[in-house]
Amino acid sequence: MIEKTSGSLPNSVPKILKGKLIDKVWFTPKIVRLKIANHDLANFSQPGQFVNVKVTDNYMPLLRRPFSIHGVNRQEKWFEILLQVIGKGTELLSKYQIGKDLDIFGPLGNSFSLPVRSNHAILIAGGLGIAPLLFLAKELTPKNFSVTLFWGNKTKEAFCSLEDFEELGLCYFLATEDGSLGFEGKITELVELKKENFQKSNSVIYACGPNPMLQKIKEFAHQSQIPCQVSLETIMACGFGVCLGCNVTSTNISEVYKYVCKDGPVFYSSEIDLSE
Ligand SMILES: Cc1cc2nc3c(=O)[nH]c(=O)nc-3n(C[C@H](O)[C@H](O)[C@H](O)COP(=O)(O)OP(=O)(O)OC[C@H]3O[C@@H](n4cnc5c(N)ncnc54)[C@H](O)[C@@H]3O)c2cc1C
Ligand code: FES
Repeated sequence: MIEKTSGSLPNSVPKILKGKLIDKVWFTPKIVRLKIANHDLANFSQPGQFVNVKVTDNYMPLLRRPFSIHGVNRQEKWFEILLQVIGKGTELLSKYQIGKDLDIFGPLGNSFSLPVRSNHAILIAGGLGIAPLLFLAKELTPKNFSVTLFWGNKTKEAFCSLEDFEELGLCYFLATEDGSLGFEGKITELVELKKENFQKSNSVIYACGPNPMLQKIKEFAHQSQIPCQVSLETIMACGFGVCLGCNVTSTNISEVYKYVCKDGPVFYSSEIDLSE
């Protein structure tokens, strides 16, 4: 079931921009939030979009690295990314000092479509999948949507940004795989346990996290007849539709693939095959 939506707000043309790193907050030894000053990205980015950041002035790593826009402050002209150190590129970026100028391409990709008929948004995040969902929650709450967050992590230390959700006053359910906070188990199990709440309300789902989690959420949404948008991550090279490296299998018989950087990263779960 696909609900008609208002569609994304008109997205601005992506540009290569300079952004100054103005603040850094470490949540764990591997997770850091970077606040970056840039007028255009603060003004025009929409929830779901991402930026492609050059991580070094040298040649290695050569390719830019993609990060979801985690939040914006349109008055103060800054935006944030939430970064998990995975390999060389994220390590270099995480080590930049405040005051450093960054080379950023964006805003890229489409954005989440806001609900039209529904009044209850269910946000489901696995790990760093929370990154685009905080921005979405900040967009939804002033528009009087009721927002429920489900967020799962391996351990309690990874719940960065929880105060931001608390400030928004929304209802949330947490799960940890080691049982150190909230429900013990995977977030998809908690969603199943709470499914009665969803079916009673006029809900839409927005999810971001690892593909196996998204596949389970897709099945859940299908069985429960709840419209579901998912934000995908793939390995990317160009970030703007040229290299065709970010393909995911389409469920539309008239095409084989969709491309995460130009058709996404946000898709209706029915549009893509997540079972691989
Ligand atoms: C649209 C989009 C939004 C993203 N948003 C965020 C975000 O908000 N915060 C964040 O921390 N990360 C985000 N990522 C993932 C981030 O881009 C990668 O972690 C980063 O590019 C890794 O670079 P690296 O040089 O540190 O690691 P590399 O040395 O390039 O890779 C290290 C290892 O991680 C694997 N890997 C790299 N990228 C990915 C990926 N996208 N998915 C699965 N495995 C990968 C590689 O195969 C390799 O095994 C996003 C990715 C996409 C496509
Ligand atoms: S990353 Fe090159 S086409 Fe998507």
